[in-house]
Amino acid sequence: MNDSEFLYDELHIAFLEDLWGEGFLSPGGAAEAARVLDGLEVTGKRILDIGCGSGAIAVMLVRDLGAAHVTGIDVEAPVCAAATRRAAEAGLSGRIAIREVTPGPLAFSDASFDIVYSKDSIIHIPDKEALAVEVFRILRPGGWFAASDWLIAHDDTPSPEMQAYIAAEDLDFTMASPDRYRRALAAAGFVNIGLRNRNPWYRDVARDELARLTGSDYTNLSETYGTEFINAQIATWRAMTAVLDSGEHCPHHLRAQRPA
Ligand SMILES: C[S@@+](CC[C@H](N)C(=O)[O-])C[C@H]1O[C@@H](n2cnc3c(N)ncnc32)[C@H](O)[C@@H]1O
Repeated sequence: MNDSEFLYDELHIAFLEDLWGEGFLSPGGAAEAARVLDGLEVTGKRILDIGCGSGAIAVMLVRDLGAAHVTGIDVEAPVCAAATRRAAEAGLSGRIAIREVTPGPLAFSDASFDIVYSKDSIIHIPDKEALAVEVFRILRPGGWFAASDWLIAHDDTPSPEMQAYIAAEDLDFTMASPDRYRRALAAAGFVNIGLRNRNPWYRDVARDELARLTGSDYTNLSETYGTEFINAQIATWRAMTAVLDSGEHCPHHLRAQRPA
C-alpha cells in the first residue's frame, strides 16, 4: 500500500525511472513514446501532453521531434516539479510549460492545440466520454488526438486475475475497453479513429522487466528501495504478466482527428 499523499511520489518516480528510463513513468522509453505519433507531422506544432509525468516526453517532443511548444499537465506536484526541472535542464523552459491541474475540464480555450498527446495517463481519468469532448474542444479543426493508454479487453466485470492485478497496482486505475474508447471518440465528433493493440509488444517487454526485477537488478534495487518495496513490485509485475498473457490487459495506441 502506498501511504504517501501522492500516487507518484519521489520513491515511485525514482523506481519507475530506474526501470523505464530517466523521465519516463511508462514503458518503452522515447521509442514507444514517439511511436504514438507515427506518421503525424509534429514539427512546429503546439502540443498538449495530458499526464506529462516527469517530463522526458515533453522534452523529446520539442528537442527531438521539433514541436513548437508543449504544455504538459499533471495532477501531482512531485511529477510537475520533476518535469519543470527537466525542461529547464534541457534549456527548453521557453518552449515547455508544465502546469499542475485538478482533474476535470481542461482549462484551455477552444482550438488551442494542434495535437493532444497522452502516454499511459488516461487510465487515471474515469470519465473517458467527458475527456473526449474536452480534447475535441481544445483541438483546432484538423488537429489530432494521439495517445497510448492501458485498456481492458471488455466492459464486463474484470476477471479475478485482473481484479488482483488492479488491486496490486494501487494506483486508482479506471480501465476501459477499446469499444468504449471508440464510442467516446465518435460521440465527441472525432473522425479517422484508429486503435492499435500494443498487448503483443508489452507482453514481451513486461516479461523482460519482471526478469530484471527478480534477477539481474534485484540486489541493487532492493538496496536502493528496500526489499519490501521491490518484493511488492515483483508481485505486481507477476499479476500484470498474467493478465497481459491472457490478453485482458491490452495497452493500445489511440488516434483520432477533429474534422477540418
Ligand atoms: C503512468 S504515468 C505516465 C506519465 C508520462 N505520460 C509518461 O509516460 O512518462 C501517469 C501520469 O498521469 C498523471 N495523472 C493522473 N490523473 C491525471 C489527470 N486527471 N489529469 C492529468 N494527469 C493525470 C499521474 O500523476 C502520472 O504522472
